[in-house]
Amino acid sequence: MKSISKIILSLLLILQSFIGRADEGMWLPMLLGEETYKNMVECGIRLSPKQIYDANNSSLKDAIVALGGGFCTGEIISEQGLMLTNHHCGYGTIQANSTTEHDYLTDGFWAMKKADEIPADFGVWFLDKITDVTESVLEGVNDDMSETDRSKKIRENISRLTKKAKEGKSDETFSVKVKPFYYGNYYYMFTYNIFNDVRLVGAPPSSIGKYGGDTDNWMWPRHTGDFTLFRVYANDSNEPCAYDENNKPYDPKHALPVSIAGVEEGDYAMIMGYPGSTDRYLTSWGVEQAVEVEQPARVKIRRQKLDLMEEEMNKSQKTRIQYASKHARVSNYWKYFIGQSEQLVNNNVQQKKEVIESSFSEWYTNNKLEDKYGDALALIEKSIEGSSKYTIPNVYFQEAIAGSEIMLFMIRNLSERSPMYQALKSGSDPADAKTILLEKAKSYFKDYNATIDKNILAAALNLYYNDVPKEFHPSLLATVHKKSKGDFTNFANKYFKKTPFSSYELFEEWINNKITLKSLEKDVVYQLQKEFLAVYRSKIMMPKSAFDSDYNKGMRLFVDGLQKMGMNKASDANSTMRFTYGNVLPYDPADAVHYDFYTTLEGVMQKEVITDDKNHEFYVPQRLKDLFEAKDYGPYARKEDGKLPVGFLSNNDITGGNSGSPVINAYGELIGTAFDGNWEAMSGDIYFEPNIQRTISVDVRYTLFIIDKYAGASHLIDEMNIITESHVDLPAQKKEKPEPVIAQ
Ligand code: ARG
Repeated sequence: MKSISKIILSLLLILQSFIGRADEGMWLPMLLGEETYKNMVECGIRLSPKQIYDANNSSLKDAIVALGGGFCTGEIISEQGLMLTNHHCGYGTIQANSTTEHDYLTDGFWAMKKADEIPADFGVWFLDKITDVTESVLEGVNDDMSETDRSKKIRENISRLTKKAKEGKSDETFSVKVKPFYYGNYYYMFTYNIFNDVRLVGAPPSSIGKYGGDTDNWMWPRHTGDFTLFRVYANDSNEPCAYDENNKPYDPKHALPVSIAGVEEGDYAMIMGYPGSTDRYLTSWGVEQAVEVEQPARVKIRRQKLDLMEEEMNKSQKTRIQYASKHARVSNYWKYFIGQSEQLVNNNVQQKKEVIESSFSEWYTNNKLEDKYGDALALIEKSIEGSSKYTIPNVYFQEAIAGSEIMLFMIRNLSERSPMYQALKSGSDPADAKTILLEKAKSYFKDYNATIDKNILAAALNLYYNDVPKEFHPSLLATVHKKSKGDFTNFANKYFKKTPFSSYELFEEWINNKITLKSLEKDVVYQLQKEFLAVYRSKIMMPKSAFDSDYNKGMRLFVDGLQKMGMNKASDANSTMRFTYGNVLPYDPADAVHYDFYTTLEGVMQKEVITDDKNHEFYVPQRLKDLFEAKDYGPYARKEDGKLPVGFLSNNDITGGNSGSPVINAYGELIGTAFDGNWEAMSGDIYFEPNIQRTISVDVRYTLFIIDKYAGASHLIDEMNIITESHVDLPAQKKEKPEPVIAQ
């Protein structure tokens, strides 16, 4: 990088610390400091900090849930436990309950009465409270300890604290998590109430909920009605409990009012939810490694898996339903990694990181703090360099080997520690082990296609054999390779002709009548997964972990130093509740290109591809077309021009896990449901781009329109507290577009 641009960047970085604005930051609600709150007020918020988070009284946080502990977020929108999230978050439940006769993926699902709701396969977590436990976790820890001793001490302290907080509570309905923040400089404890009785209430057809499919995924302008409704149930005392037909709808501490008054450019927008993970402190060396090695490998493996799934999904409706959810999972991050590596380069992230690293070095030198911080960057650089040889084997093990269904099933259910293996080994009665295993097998084989799995197994072995250095090959791999004449396809074809792992019926018969320790251990795929796992543990993870402790130490010091330098930056996402504030805003993705901040139903129609294939990414259902023709939008149309709003943008800072999070206006009312980020800022998990990074949300008016006008489920609207007018009693808060700011 030329030094002149480096100087300009540094100046901008320094300047940034003086500008208080809507910013990068997935902030912990409990740590809502004065400075941040002042910025929020500047952006237009009309709520007090206590209305956002209060450990003792009801506040916004009580309306927010983590689905399954954090794979997505949801919000409570009625006094009867009605919960709104994304279609792609409910997708697993919708898929699992779909058959060729009742294809809820294609046709949607609406429970017209509570008795018709369908149990979901996840529970929802309500945050009880957050406690700062830094002191107790770091008790007995000092700077002279080895990293190993330090980790051990911390683990002991955490387990003691967790045990104490759990006393007298049931594991089923109460959870305690202690998590590190700022690379182990701080620790917070989170307690949760878990409601395991959650039921599917309504889902639009995929032609609305997933409109645009993979083509539009991670992109703006967007026309997806990415929402689904669930309901949370509780026992007679309104407490969390397991599923029971007689449970009652949960009466929440707080339910978000829903505003259909509309959104305008510059309006305050805040999102609360459960971002999963970010790597915002990643150094320039880490960026280089990600762009050049790790992400291309992930993309390559995922693409092959997707092709093999699609080949069979296109042949049969049954397979298409069975693999819809698996396909969507692989595909979402296939495109994510393509976008991330592309944008890390386009947005010059490596250079921006270098600037931060040199200001850090300058800072500790000027302040004579070399003793404490002088080694940090070298530790990081060396550990990245040293562990780089494990990147490829690690990625290939995770994505290809453990990405093969049969291998993963064996790893999870038949390892040496599994009840079945133990029973066979000890010669004890395997009856219980069989029951457990067959239970697992039943759900595994429900959505299973042996041809796909066979082809993926062959591809996984070929990929690993050809792309991973020989020193990380299990010895059996070469033997099988030779026997199958250099192509694992031959091996997989032959193996799948006789394996009991190809259907539930064969598997059950084998388990009930034939399984012996010898027959299990003679199975070649069983032997392969066992050897792969052993190599993974001893030749990949073990040697890599030596570098991990240097890396963690370096990062802890680096991040601590950056904070002391005055960099006011949130801790990386870690599946804990965060909020991000900002405004509804458009953006300019490229020279001479301007993207408006909202989309309408006109755009859905413009993208339409006329086809009979209801699963086409751009198929528009007839009913939606009729409503469009009749302009029958009810109270959900835009006041400005009568068009039906679909999506909108805001400059909030979110990531995976935030999907389904509420977008809340200045008064604490729901205006949308967040579901994606934009292509130009796909590097955002590693470096926030304030000028171009946007959150994409479904406008809640589109959601209500689909529920009400499309599905005719107006009884659900009646449950909600609908706000129809904007707040004119308070000073208008329309703001100028914030000045462009360079993030740090
Ligand atoms: N990219 C979105 C996210 O990760 C998921 C969008 C799902 N839609 C789709 N077409 N796959 O949050």
